[in-house]
Amino acid sequence: MKRILIVDDEFLIRYTLEEGLRDRGHDTASVASVEEALEYVKKYHPAVVLLDNLLEHSVGMETIPDFKQIDEDIQIILMTAYGSVSQAVEAIKKGACDYVLKPFDMDEVDFMVRRCLDQMKSRDSLEFLKGKPQEFTGVSQAASQIRSEIRVLGANSTVNVLLRGETGTGKEIVARLIHAHSDRSDNLMVRINCGAIPENLLESELFGYERGAFAGALKTKKGLIELANGGTVFLDEIGELPMSMQAKLLTFLDDRRFKRIGALEDTEVDVRVMAATNRDLEKAIKEGAFREDLFYRLNVMQIVIPPLRERREDIPALCDYYLDYYNKAFAKGIERVDPDFMRELLLYDWKGNVRELKNIFERCFLFSQGNTLEKHVELVPASKEAAPPGGECYYLKDLTQGPVSLEQEVAALEKRYMDQALKLCNNNLTKAAALLGTTRFSMKRRMERE
Ligand SMILES: Nc1ncnc2c1ncn2[C@@H]1O[C@H](COP(=O)(O)OP(=O)(O)OP(=O)(O)O)[C@@H](O)[C@H]1O
Ligand SMILES: [Mg+2]
Repeated sequence: MKRILIVDDEFLIRYTLEEGLRDRGHDTASVASVEEALEYVKKYHPAVVLLDNLLEHSVGMETIPDFKQIDEDIQIILMTAYGSVSQAVEAIKKGACDYVLKPFDMDEVDFMVRRCLDQMKSRDSLEFLKGKPQEFTGVSQAASQIRSEIRVLGANSTVNVLLRGETGTGKEIVARLIHAHSDRSDNLMVRINCGAIPENLLESELFGYERGAFAGALKTKKGLIELANGGTVFLDEIGELPMSMQAKLLTFLDDRRFKRIGALEDTEVDVRVMAATNRDLEKAIKEGAFREDLFYRLNVMQIVIPPLRERREDIPALCDYYLDYYNKAFAKGIERVDPDFMRELLLYDWKGNVRELKNIFERCFLFSQGNTLEKHVELVPASKEAAPPGGECYYLKDLTQGPVSLEQEVAALEKRYMDQALKLCNNNLTKAAALLGTTRFSMKRRMERE
C-alpha cells in the first residue's frame, strides 16, 4: 500500500490526520519537521506528503524542491491556513500536486489524497509546465521554418494553434517554446493529456466544480483551465477527447467562458489554447469521431512537424545536441559518434522520431566508454517501403565526426547512380549513359576504374 507522510509541527494536527487517514484505509506516518521528513522520504519513499506550509523553522512551500530532488515522483499536498488562489498557484508552480486549506475536513483530505494517488497512476496525464524549454534543434528547411513559426506565434499571443506530427517529433517542445516566447510566459502553461484522464473526471479537471456539486466536492475547486488564466492551455492528444467533452470545449472556445460543474454563473478566463495530435483528424471527422466545427476552431494556425526520416539532415545536429546533453547529464566526455554507427543512424527509419533518437543516445551513453559513442542497440534498418522513392539516398557525412575522403565518397555515389541506371535500362550501357547525361565511353571508363 502506498504510504502517506504527514509533516506538521502541531501534535494535534499530526494525530488527527494520521488517525483520520488510517481510519479511511491509508498507511500513514508523521513527523514534525522538514528535516525529519526528508530523512524519512530517503528511507521509506512515501507516495504522498501532506506538508504544512507554516512550520516552526521552515516555509513548507519552499522545501518542495528538496523533496522532489530525493524523489521526483513524490506527490505533495500543501496545507495552508492562509489560503489564497495565488498561493495555491505558487504551490503548484513549485511542484505541489494540490493544496488544502486549514481547518480541513477529514473527508476532504481523504478525497485529495485519493486524487493524488490516482494522478500518480496516470502519471503523465496532466502537468504544469514551467522553466525555459530547449531550442528546436535542426538544420533542415523544415526546422528553420518551425523556428520562425514559433517566433511569429510567440509575438501573437491569442490565436489557437494546432500542432501535428508523428509521435516524438517535438510537438510538445514547440508548444512550450511558443508559450515561452509569448507575453504569457510569466503565467502557467497547463498541459492536459486528453487521452489519459478518465472521461468521468475530465470535465471536473478541466472546468472545476462548485462546493456540493457532487459527493466529495466539499469545497469549490478551480479547474485546470482556470489555473492557466493569463497563460496557455495545452490540450495534448486532442484526438482522444471524448465526444461529450468536444461539445463543451467548443462552447468554451467560442467566448472563453465556461461554468464550473454545479455553477450557475459563467467564469471567464484569458488563455491561449494550443492542441496537439498525431492522429489523422480529417479521417476522424469523416468517421464521426471528431467534430468538424471543433477542428476548425482549434486549427486557426497549424504547425506540422515532419517525421525525422523526411528531414534526415537534422540527424547530425540532433546527435550533437544529445551528445552535449548526455555528457552533462552523465558527467562524461564523449566527443564523437562512431562513424559506422552514425551511418546507420542516418539510414534508420525513426518510427519514434526524435524521442527514439534521444532514448538510443541515453542507452549508448550508459554503455560507452572512452570518447566515442558506440552502438549498443540493435537498429533494424529502414524497410524498402520506408526508403525514399528512387532507391537509396545519399547523406553527407558529418565532418565534425572525423575526416572523409572526397574521392572515395564521390566514387561511391557515382557507383550507386550507375548501378541504378543500369538496372533501369536492363544493363544497356548506352541507355544508362543517356539517363545519367554522359556518354557510353565515359560510363565504361568509370566502371573499369572501380
Ligand atoms: N528539434 C528538437 N530538438 C531537440 N529535441 C527535440 C526536438 N524535437 C523533439 N525533441 C525531443 O524529443 C522528445 C519528444 O518530443 P515531444 O515530447 O515534444 O514529442 P511529441 O511530438 O509531443 O510526441 P508525442 O506525440 O509522443 O507526445 C523530447 O524529449 C524532446 O525534447
Ligand atoms: Mg507529446
